[in-house]
Amino acid sequence: MDTPIFKQLWQEKYQIVPNNLKKLKKLNAVATGFNANIDAVCFLSGQKLKALIEKAGLTIDELTHIERKQILDEKDFLKGVFKTFTLGIAEEWICENESVYEWIRAELGYDKLQIGGQGGIMANVLSSVGIKKVFAHTNSLPKMQADTFLKNDNLISFDENGVAKPAYLIDRKNDIPLIHFIIEFKRGDILELEGKTFKCPRANRFIATYDPLNLKLVLDENFMRAMKSEKLDFVILSGFHALQEKNDGIALIKKAAERIKEWKNAAPETLFHLEIASTQDLGIRKAIVQNIVPIVDSVGINERETIDLLEVIDQKALAKRCNEQTTAENLLKAISIIKEKTGIKRVQLHMFGLYMTLQDKDFVLSLEDNFNGMLCAAVVAAAKAKTGKTDDGSIKKVVYDVSDVGLIELDSLSIALGQPDLALKGIGHYRLWNLVAIPTILIENPLTLVGMGDTISALSLVCAKKM
Ligand code: GLC
Repeated sequence: MDTPIFKQLWQEKYQIVPNNLKKLKKLNAVATGFNANIDAVCFLSGQKLKALIEKAGLTIDELTHIERKQILDEKDFLKGVFKTFTLGIAEEWICENESVYEWIRAELGYDKLQIGGQGGIMANVLSSVGIKKVFAHTNSLPKMQADTFLKNDNLISFDENGVAKPAYLIDRKNDIPLIHFIIEFKRGDILELEGKTFKCPRANRFIATYDPLNLKLVLDENFMRAMKSEKLDFVILSGFHALQEKNDGIALIKKAAERIKEWKNAAPETLFHLEIASTQDLGIRKAIVQNIVPIVDSVGINERETIDLLEVIDQKALAKRCNEQTTAENLLKAISIIKEKTGIKRVQLHMFGLYMTLQDKDFVLSLEDNFNGMLCAAVVAAAKAKTGKTDDGSIKKVVYDVSDVGLIELDSLSIALGQPDLALKGIGHYRLWNLVAIPTILIENPLTLVGMGDTISALSLVCAKKM
């Protein structure tokens, strides 16, 4: 199709977003869990990275020899940073060694502190779009954490006595701050080592996580108790991805699955969503697929996480294909296999330039509602990328410049499936299920990338509720 006309067609579809976002103010309540933490964001230049690598005396050979995706010493940390910088990808590695964590802190410091963890990020975003009540699960909430929550009275958590209050006003004095280091790099930045030049292909980040509570999936019983008597529209969960098999992670997942099942049985009207998140430990990844995915109604996932899941459901060949050609067509096949193997009713994938939702034909959210929700999510995500914020004022600043990459992917997908309407209306079908696909909004030079996927998934879902 003629590109400008195609682009304009989609730009026009985006015009309904402001009205649809207004409807969110009528939504009663959403709960987010289980991980909230503090993100210490630090920008790392190629030059600074070079200095750190040289100080540690690491060669390129050593840097590229990765035995574990965990941080047990300074060298592991530098290997992770080198890998993500040179490939322009995002990864999160766990650090359990307090002295290495202190070393990272001393060497890098940070530029700013902000909300972290899928649960925390989604709570902030959802409260800023005006949902009446957003309950955030926090397993640690000292003042330093409270300061990262937006100063919104509709964003509620629990103090040490179990009293519900706006999260930003709480100070659980005995809790320790859980700080994750977010090492960000810029696209095009250069790292020169041993006469070789490495150019960072895409702005991205490496996360070094030291977090004794979230890593044990400690649940705040005050939150769990209080949620039983709340009429929630949605429960949005995440935070299993940082567990480790060697630290009892599988048993923790099984225990959590029982709690979620109980919660879900007591709240049959509530939709439960799981945000998959980047999960390095293979045993944990498998346990999430086997124990958590089948009991929720919906999952959110990005292209990398999709490929990761394929690896644990015996789909190595397809994983390889998706890795080599990360196209919408290959990824759609991938999410359909994940859907088939786990029985999950709704899968939403967010990839560069495009979102796709594949769901059961009788799912409670209609295709049109999903479509509207996804458009809203793209606008809110664009506001976040552009300004770092998702309040009304920042959302209004978004220009609906539809992503060319997304349009091309959507067009190729609709041709491959023989469904012209998919490109024109964003609605189609795949195998036994319904499909919605939309090109997103492009933001050149985003201010921030962390929490983008969480924002997209949460918004697509809650904005899809008919009100
Ligand atoms: C992971 C990280 C957290 C970060 C989040 C962003 O949960 O642990 O630090 O804020 O991902 O999606």
